[in-house]
Amino acid sequence: MKKRPFHNFVVDHMTFLVEPDLYKTTYALFRVIFGVSREDLIYEKRSAWPGQAKPASMTFASRLGVEKDARVPAQTIVAVVQPTEPEGASSHVRQMLKNRGGGCAWQHIALRTPDLPAFHAFCVERGVNFITPILKDADEDLIQVFSGEWMTPGGRPTATFFEFVQRDPGPELLKALETASNREAWFRDKTFLGLYGEKENEYRSGRVTPFIDDALARRIAGHLGAREIWEIDDALLEAVEADMLDYAASRKAAR
Ligand SMILES: [Fe+2]
Repeated sequence: MKKRPFHNFVVDHMTFLVEPDLYKTTYALFRVIFGVSREDLIYEKRSAWPGQAKPASMTFASRLGVEKDARVPAQTIVAVVQPTEPEGASSHVRQMLKNRGGGCAWQHIALRTPDLPAFHAFCVERGVNFITPILKDADEDLIQVFSGEWMTPGGRPTATFFEFVQRDPGPELLKALETASNREAWFRDKTFLGLYGEKENEYRSGRVTPFIDDALARRIAGHLGAREIWEIDDALLEAVEADMLDYAASRKAAR
């Protein structure tokens, strides 16, 4: 195989389809959890179907980040996975493909942050669910954590979630993470198998962790009401965020 100059691809954007029930909650989560500012909303398109009383938002494109520090190169990596379990044996990969209509399906997007522990703590404080602790990849200079699945409250699993990574974490951070928690919980070799096993357990038990709890998703949707996304102002997003903080704090106290 010969690599030619035009073969140097970096991710330009990704398209994420969501059901109407989840659209505005997705907007609020992107604004609050991913820190998408008004300037980061680079495109928005409204529908004008014949007979439509009020236009609806068809799409919004969010810039989640811009690489300014070239210390770690921007690179585009696609990991392709197939179900290898014998016919008749349980396989979450096979189930995910089936749920998504078969053939193929994008499963997770890994977003890189310059400070994974800080972002992780920010998320947990706001009620975001993770299915693993922060894991360290033994082969690569990489720490990573995996979120629950993006799903409508009460809906079925979507097989779509996020991974958050930090590359080149440096010896100080690794040492801090090592002492911050039990070493076994934070560090795991073969993180592919770690995630694989975690998803298999979820699909086998039928209890798939959502990105945020159904109860919190309903509370967020309650705040957003009948508004279209261009009618969601910063004061409302602050109310959403305050409710997320409140939800996560009372959930933590109850545990
Ligand atoms: Fe990944």
